[in-house]
Amino acid sequence: MVGDFICLSDFSAEELLHLLDFADEIKRRQRGGIPHRILEGKTLAMIFEKPSLRTRVTFQTGMFQLGGQSILIETRLGKRESVPDVARNLDRWVDGIMARTFQHEHVLELAQYARVPVINALTDKLHPCQILADVQTLREHKGPGLSGIKVAFVGDGNNVFNSWATFAARIPIQLTLVCPPGYEGDISIVAQAQRETQGSIEITNDVAAGLRGADAVYTDVWTSMGQEEEAAARTKAFASYQVNGQLMALAKPDAVFMHCLPAHRGEEVTDEVMDSPNSIVFDQAENRLHAQKAVLATLMR
Ligand code: CP
Ligand code: NVA
Repeated sequence: MVGDFICLSDFSAEELLHLLDFADEIKRRQRGGIPHRILEGKTLAMIFEKPSLRTRVTFQTGMFQLGGQSILIETRLGKRESVPDVARNLDRWVDGIMARTFQHEHVLELAQYARVPVINALTDKLHPCQILADVQTLREHKGPGLSGIKVAFVGDGNNVFNSWATFAARIPIQLTLVCPPGYEGDISIVAQAQRETQGSIEITNDVAAGLRGADAVYTDVWTSMGQEEEAAARTKAFASYQVNGQLMALAKPDAVFMHCLPAHRGEEVTDEVMDSPNSIVFDQAENRLHAQKAVLATLMR
C-alpha cells in the first residue's frame, strides 16, 4: 500500500476494501469498549488552511482513541516558509501529517518532502477521507456488496464529487453527476476515472434522468470554501437542483439521502429531506471518525 493518503485512485480495489473492513472493525472495537491503542505514543500534525468541524474533531479524537496525540496548526502554507521546509521540519518531530489546504499541489508537496505519511483532509480538488466514510456508511445501509449501487450526486462537480469519481475508478459503482451546465468541474479527473472504471460514471444536466433508479442521492454546498465571491451566481445556477421532497421522489423509494456537511439548509437541501428517515448524514459524520482511524492506524503504525 502507498505510504500517503492523497487520492483514492492511488489504491487498488483490494486495498480500499481492506480499509473499509478495517474501519468496520475499528468501529466495533470503539463501540464495544475494546482497547485499540495502535498508535501509542505517536503524534499527528494537523494543518488547517480552511475551517472545519468534522475533520478536526474526528482526527483529534481518533488519534486520542488510538493512544496517540495531535497538534493543531492553523496556517496558510507557503507564506512564512516554503512548503518543503514545513515538511522537512515536521517529519523530525511527528509520525504523520494531515493537511487541509486550498491548493492540491501543497498536499502533494508535503508528501514529496516529508518522510512520514501525509493524509489529504480536503483540498480544492479532492476529499478522500469523506468518501471513505461515506462508503462505509453506504455499506451499512445498503449491504456490503456495492456492485450495481447507483449514487446520484446532485450539485457541483467539486472536490467531493471528484473523490467519488476516483473511488468509482477502482470499485465498480454507477455514479452520476447531476449538475447545471458549466458546473461539471475538473473534466480531466472525471475523464480518467471514466477510462478506468468497470462501473459507470456519467454527467447529466437533466434532474429526472440523473435521479432515475438512484439508491443514494448525495449533495454538497453550492459554494465551496474559497469560492465565496461566486456565491450569488452559484445560487442562481443551482436553484433547480435543490434536493427537496420532489427531487427525492425521482429516485428509488428507499433511496438514502447523503451530505458531507456542513449543510446550508434551504439552499442545496431542504429541512424536510435533511431530517427525513432516509437521511443518513449523521451516520456519515460519525463514520469520519472510524474510517480515518483505519487510515491513521494503517499508515502510521
Ligand atoms: N465534511 C467535512 O469535511 O466537514 P468539515 O469541513 O467540518 O471538516
Ligand atoms: N465542497 C465543500 C466540502 C466541505 C466539507 C468545500 O470544499 O467547502
